[in-house]
Amino acid sequence: MSAPWRIGLIGARGHVGGELLRLIAAHPSLELAYASSRARAGDAIATAPGQVFEDLSPEDAAQRQADLVFLALPNGHAARWAAAITAAAPRTRFIDMSADHRFDPDWAYGLPELNRKAIRGAQRIANPGCYATAAQLAIAPLADRLASPPAIFGVSGYSGAGTTPGPRNDPEQLADNLMPYALTGHVHEREISRHLGQSVHFMPHVAAFFRGLSVTVNLCVDAPMTAAQARALYEDAYGSEPFIRLDEDAPQVRAIAGRRSARLGGFALSEDGRRLVMVCVLDNLLKGAASQAMQNLNLAFGLPEDTGLAP
Ligand SMILES: NC(=O)c1ccc[n+]([C@@H]2O[C@H](COP(=O)([O-])OP(=O)(O)OC[C@H]3O[C@@H](n4cnc5c(N)ncnc54)[C@H](OP(=O)(O)O)[C@@H]3O)[C@@H](O)[C@H]2O)c1
Repeated sequence: MSAPWRIGLIGARGHVGGELLRLIAAHPSLELAYASSRARAGDAIATAPGQVFEDLSPEDAAQRQADLVFLALPNGHAARWAAAITAAAPRTRFIDMSADHRFDPDWAYGLPELNRKAIRGAQRIANPGCYATAAQLAIAPLADRLASPPAIFGVSGYSGAGTTPGPRNDPEQLADNLMPYALTGHVHEREISRHLGQSVHFMPHVAAFFRGLSVTVNLCVDAPMTAAQARALYEDAYGSEPFIRLDEDAPQVRAIAGRRSARLGGFALSEDGRRLVMVCVLDNLLKGAASQAMQNLNLAFGLPEDTGLAP
């Protein structure tokens, strides 16, 4: 197996699928093998001249050659595609964008900044949730110093709700509004708790902007710290990470639309030094989904992690 690697994409019509198509086209070592969408079957693919979207079944996809397949399907649909393709071509690699394999120990959890070793060379990668990425990046440097479960207040743009129409992606219902939902037990609450090994309380909301998300995280620590100590912990964790930028002030969601990096900052410390509030913003469709998946693809194929991801 050598470059150019052939890439299959299931769920190519969606918000995440669209970003993946653009990133595949921009990557120097990849070519698109096929892109599946029922609704757009026969339409030309703008990023792949001469190719069209195809309405493929799992069994059809299993007959097509691909080195790696992205599964950009709604939650609950990925397993049967992975099973059918694996049965015909056992060496195929997968990156699942859905939540279906994020709790499965046979799939590497694809958050490179926290789990790079397990992702290198992996055959099956579960790409993290968008909120789960931001929250874990904000909490991880302090995960072993917490006095209580962190509270995470999240606000996402409505592209986070996908393309199937519903109240959470209806611009009319969102106008001049902030919509709370799943205030306990959201799948990302379980995902964050599972991968940090630390229980968390997550309260998501959706707002009227299209892309980007912000999490404000309240961290109570078990011993007082100074602002300089807090800053040093995050510098140690992320100072050399190409896709994380540390800010002194709390970053704002407008700064990251269309970007491949997360921005982390705030560093607001209570007077007694026992409570730190951090903010993380990222583009839910890029660092929260497609560009993170490309970091993972590069690690899986043994390429430099930023290949095809120039800022
Ligand atoms: N949006 C985000 O911010 C975000 C961030 C991180 C992770 N994710 C995850 O990434 C996945 C895709 O999200 P998205 O926002 O791109 O969703 P989306 O916009 O709703 O797209 C879903 C895609 O799946 C296809 N599809 C739907 N039902 C299908 C079925 N039964 N069989 C085959 N194909 C089907 C659709 O195409 P056709 O109907 O044309 O076949 C479409 O291409 C989800 O699991 C989501 O949780 C999303």
